Amino acid sequence: MALRNIVTYEDPILRKKCRPVPEVTDRIKQLVDDMIETLYDAQGVGLAAPQVGVLRRIFVVDIMDGTGPKVLINPEIVETRGEQDGEEGCLSVPDRAGEVIRPEYVKVKGLDRDGQPVEYEGEGLLARAFCHENDHLDGVLYVDKAKQLWEIQE
Ligand code: NI
Repeated sequence: MALRNIVTYEDPILRKKCRPVPEVTDRIKQLVDDMIETLYDAQGVGLAAPQVGVLRRIFVVDIMDGTGPKVLINPEIVETRGEQDGEEGCLSVPDRAGEVIRPEYVKVKGLDRDGQPVEYEGEGLLARAFCHENDHLDGVLYVDKAKQLWEIQE
């Protein structure tokens, strides 16, 4: 595994729409493993492929609840319920945070790291992370949706 470089806000790659993964090859698995390592190294809760410069529909999420990393390849949000208002940040938008409304509950389907169908249900932070990462695959950043933004003092 290897750490990948996380691109930041100004990079136009973050604004592009990602293409589906046609086949989960060894190269894709390597990318997923690298994304997980990069996510943990950066101490984030989610990372999408465009954030490491790859325009493919892949993200990884781990809200550190002890259940391990969740890998979604070609994800689709198939159900949402409710609403939550809360704080959000992004590894590609360092030193800032914002207030974003998201669904309280989300069901997402896709393929896992081995190309097998997988489905997750998330509430609260997990639902928020799924929505945030899924938006990245369509070139959408949370700052587009934030009701307000603020600087984080280190
Ligand atoms: Ni992000």
